[in-house]
This record gives sequence, structure tokens and C-alpha cells, in this order.
Amino acid sequence: MTKKIQIMETVLRDGQQSLIATRMPTSDMLPIIKTLDEAGYYALEMWGGATFDSCIRFLNEDPWERLRLIRKEVKNAKLQMLLRGQNLLGYKNYADDVVREFVEKSVKNGIDVIRVFDALNDTRNLQTAITAAKEAGGHCQTAISYTTSDVHTIDYFVTLAKEMASFGADSICIKDMAGVLMPQTGFELVSRIKDAVDLPLEVHTHATSGIAEMTYLKVAEAGADIIDTAISSFAGGTSQPATESVAMALEELGFDTGLNMTKVAEVAEYFNPIRDRFRNEGLLNPKVKDVEPKTLIYQVPGGMLSNLLSQLTEQGLQDKYDEVLAEVPKVRADLGYPPLVTPLSQMVGTQALMNVISGERYKLIPNEIKDYVRGLYGRPPAPISDEIKQKIIGDETVVTVRPADLIAPQLPNFEEEIKEYAKSMEDVLMYAVFPQQAKDFLGRREDRFYDVPLQTVNVKIDY
Ligand code: CO
Repeated sequence: MTKKIQIMETVLRDGQQSLIATRMPTSDMLPIIKTLDEAGYYALEMWGGATFDSCIRFLNEDPWERLRLIRKEVKNAKLQMLLRGQNLLGYKNYADDVVREFVEKSVKNGIDVIRVFDALNDTRNLQTAITAAKEAGGHCQTAISYTTSDVHTIDYFVTLAKEMASFGADSICIKDMAGVLMPQTGFELVSRIKDAVDLPLEVHTHATSGIAEMTYLKVAEAGADIIDTAISSFAGGTSQPATESVAMALEELGFDTGLNMTKVAEVAEYFNPIRDRFRNEGLLNPKVKDVEPKTLIYQVPGGMLSNLLSQLTEQGLQDKYDEVLAEVPKVRADLGYPPLVTPLSQMVGTQALMNVISGERYKLIPNEIKDYVRGLYGRPPAPISDEIKQKIIGDETVVTVRPADLIAPQLPNFEEEIKEYAKSMEDVLMYAVFPQQAKDFLGRREDRFYDVPLQTVNVKIDY
């Protein structure tokens, strides 16, 4: 009996985000959408925070229009987006009215599957998005932010998956943003979740540390229903493993991926020169293709390692690198083991840096860390000790309700603030998620004398 496993193609979102800072314009996508749609993929991931931001900030494109244009061509595969729970596409919590409206409009404009996650795995931050996605007729996939620590055991993740299922998730994803999920752990995790929860299970990882292909084979063996890959042109390094290679290996092992390999080859042939163009323009930094096994040793994402090193080098303190690196897990333990994903990776990194440079732990504390300890990001995976709490926020009380419960409806204010330029609710939502960039984008569109030019600086967006 052939076993079935399906493939989600990431080239339009995570693939290009991981390798070329999400700079692929819609015009590079449209000519190949029909082929992608006919290639037998389960879904095409094509929308998320960085794609949205990059559209209005660098490409002068309406991200909603991109969605509608792609939707028109896609008849077979599902269109998928990534949503940061109550933070939508950014890093701060929004009121429920904004979350509901954003989710509803995403589905209405063409999204089939919304993958929603919370950096802390606080399921309360997923609830509104789950309900809204289902009400709008979308498929809500909840993602477990995978990480390693003393509290992040297989039991912990299985409990989390059960909780997500009870909240109404239509499927579950194990989202390994740092590429640290090892093959055998992946096997156990998938087997245990499949036993506990009767929902489709998808696995998402990155090739960063060089183990992703091995992990995919093991999770397939354990019964994963879908895995995420990127067409070879935009695969490897900080992106996903290559679609063709993984699919061929799986087929040889007796899996049916449903892919039409001739069509998939056409997709690669189409994207190769596009990849080369980005390489020639310098937007594809060769470093992102490097294998970074240190990620597995330090359990610190590759991007965070290079960030810390460049911050230290700027201040002439590169000799402190090992000390800061040793401080990172200590800070993380103090803070209740938050997963090291954006924005927590930057926050923990900065705190570790300050602890080392100032010569005294928690002498200097960034505001974001204070807010985190105040409970404004959600519940930390493990409790924070009274001693650390006292050091960081003194006698202040900690918020224990869902953070968004403290936020009054915001949509009317956003509508009022952008009424000069917004023509639709989609425009208002664009403003809600990226206020300054959206104002400039809509301003340029609506007023020919609007004089803020398009940003062209080559900044790496890190989401
Ligand atoms: Co990813």
C-alpha cells in the first residue's frame, strides 16, 4: 500500500523571505502560477507579515491585490498564509475587532488556509483568530512554535496540540523556525501527536542546520500528512529543503506525494533565472545558503548568532562573544524559556548582551523585557521566579488575563486616522498592521504630490 504525504510549496513566501528578504514582486510570480497550481501541491504559501510589509515598503504593490491576482489563477492548490495570532502580521497585540476583520478579509480575498501561531505558544493569543477563520469559512491551522528547553518536552507539545484541537483547529503544524528539530525527536513528536489528536499534521522546518531533509524522512515515516518545501531555485540554507529532492526521496521510499514532477521541473526552470537575477543584484547574500550546525550546539537560531556577533563587533567587543553566548540560555531560563523566535530572540539576545557588557546582570533592562515580564506578551512557557520578577519590574503586578482583553476596540480609530487615503476596509487594515508604511503607500497612490519616496535601501527584514 502506498502511503500518502502532501507537499506545501513555500517559494512565494518563506522561500523568498528566507533567501532574498521577501523582495520578489508579483510580476515574477504570475507567469508561473498556473503551472504551480497544476503541479499537485497541497497548498501554496504566499502571504504573511514580511510579504505584506515588503509589498508596501519596497515594491510599491498592494498586497491585497497580489492575493486577488494569484487567487484568480489557482483552482487546485490551496492558498495559505501565516498569521502571528493576536499580533496579526506584527509584534504587538491588536484588539479583537481588528483581528476578526483582518482574518475575514483575508479569507474573502482568497486565502484558504490560515496558519496561526503564537511565539510563546499561549493558546489564548490564538483563540480570536481561530474563531474568525472558521466563521469566515477558512481552514484554520494552528502552529506549535517548536523549540528546545527543559520545559519543551514531547509531553508539553502533545498537551499543546490537544488544547489546539479543543479550540477548534482544523489541522496542526509543528513549526520549527530555527531548523533545530532532530530526526528522531521529529519522529516521536509526530507519532505522539498523531496518536493524541485526530487532525491532519504538517511539519515545517528550515534547512539552516543541515538536518532538515533527514527530519522530513523521519516525520514522513511517523505519519506526517504534509511537509513544507521550497522549489530548488529558492531552497536550502535558511530556506526549506528542495521540493524535488525531498519528493524524489519520498517516492523512492514508497510515498505518493501527488506531485507531477514534470510540472515541478518547469517551476524550477522558471525560477532559476529569477534566483540568478537576485544573486547578481546582491539581494541573495551567499551567507544565507551556508550550513550552520552551531544552531544545534547552542540551540540558538543562526540569525541570532550572526546578529549578536555584529552588534558586538560594532562596539569593538567581539572578544565578549563567547561570554554573551553563554549568557543567552541563562537569560532564557530566567524568563521562563520563551522560544527564541522574533521578537523574543532579539529581546533575549539584547538582555544577554546588556548583562555581559554592563558587568552586572539586569542592571540595564530594555522596556520590551519589562513588558514581557509584566505579562503583556502572554504567558511564559514556565513561571518566572519571584527573584527575577523583582529585579525586572519590582513590585508591579503581573497581568494574568489574555493581553488583548486589556485593549479596547481599535478599528474605528484606525478608520478615522487613515480616512484621507483609505478607500476600502482592506486599506484600513493595511494601515492597522503597518501604519507608517501603509500611510506612505496609500498617500503615494491617492495624492500625486505626496512626497515620501519608496524605500529602496537594502534592509534585511527579519520575521
Ligand atoms: Co519558516
